[in-house]
Amino acid sequence: MNRRHIIAATAAAVMAGVVPAAAQTYPTRPITMIIPFAAGGPTDVVARIVAEAMSKNLGQSVVIENVAGAGGTTGATRLTQQQPDGYSIMIGHTGTHAASVALYPNLRYNPVTDFAQIGLVNTNAILITAKKALPANNLSEFVAWLKANERTANNAHAGIGSVSHTTCLLLHAIIGVKPQSVPYRGTGPAMNDLVAGQVDYLCDQVVNVAPQVRAGTIKAFAVAQAARNAALPDVPTTAEAGLPAYQVVVWNAMLAPKGTPDAIVTRLNQALVAALNDDGVKARLAELGADLPTGNLATPAGLRAFLEAEIAKWTPVIKAAGVTASN
Ligand code: MLT
Repeated sequence: MNRRHIIAATAAAVMAGVVPAAAQTYPTRPITMIIPFAAGGPTDVVARIVAEAMSKNLGQSVVIENVAGAGGTTGATRLTQQQPDGYSIMIGHTGTHAASVALYPNLRYNPVTDFAQIGLVNTNAILITAKKALPANNLSEFVAWLKANERTANNAHAGIGSVSHTTCLLLHAIIGVKPQSVPYRGTGPAMNDLVAGQVDYLCDQVVNVAPQVRAGTIKAFAVAQAARNAALPDVPTTAEAGLPAYQVVVWNAMLAPKGTPDAIVTRLNQALVAALNDDGVKARLAELGADLPTGNLATPAGLRAFLEAEIAKWTPVIKAAGVTASN
């Protein structure tokens, strides 16, 4: 088919409303990527790595906008209020798009139907970390310390419903404690205070803790996965450290507002997949201990089914912990 025929076919498709005209030339201007936490945390770090590579593929800047608050649900709500034109996307995660359903009785969005799913970005291990001065040198000593200091221990997290909140909630339920919690606008700022010894411990994603553990500025007692994390090979698994019940995997997902044209979702998915296949991106995410999506999770349909399964998984866990954002 020669160029003239291609133009004619494209025009016919547009005229038939099969592909919106805007989708034909998309993107023609910068794209905003909402990150629902403060700069410097795991969501922000992964987003900036992926956004940079997507910009190259799309030929337009992907500009990060940090919209923090309410465990990430403020940023997710903000995205649902944007035009579904492909120029507003976000990175959500286990907290904003799964645990939030049970934690926020008045959640202002449906994590599945109020979004167009673009694809899973990465999965992440969770580590139990503590300030250097905390008087425990392994997980068993940490658990004993936490039980003995339950009323005064300060657990940092990124707000009710955040990953750092919900994964420590899971740990507390297994240990049987209800310590103080100190919310931050992201675990970037929380990590600063952990390094400074201003808070006692943090359940956080490997991409945020790996650099600090390697630098020796914080302690990591265990990684809550079946296998050790390649980025921190000396940190034992929770099973090796005597707490096999505590295993949890969290994830980041790329989303657009519902109603974003399929052709634009497809184009964004192509840019995401190209970014995740970029050698530089793979190397940077591997160094931080992040894992790339497997199977069909990096596809819109695969992500939608995954979100539905994750909501079904996390809802009873949160309800059993007896916590909602209002208490
Ligand atoms: C969280 O849910 O804890 C977030 O990942 C924190 C962050 O990215 O700042």
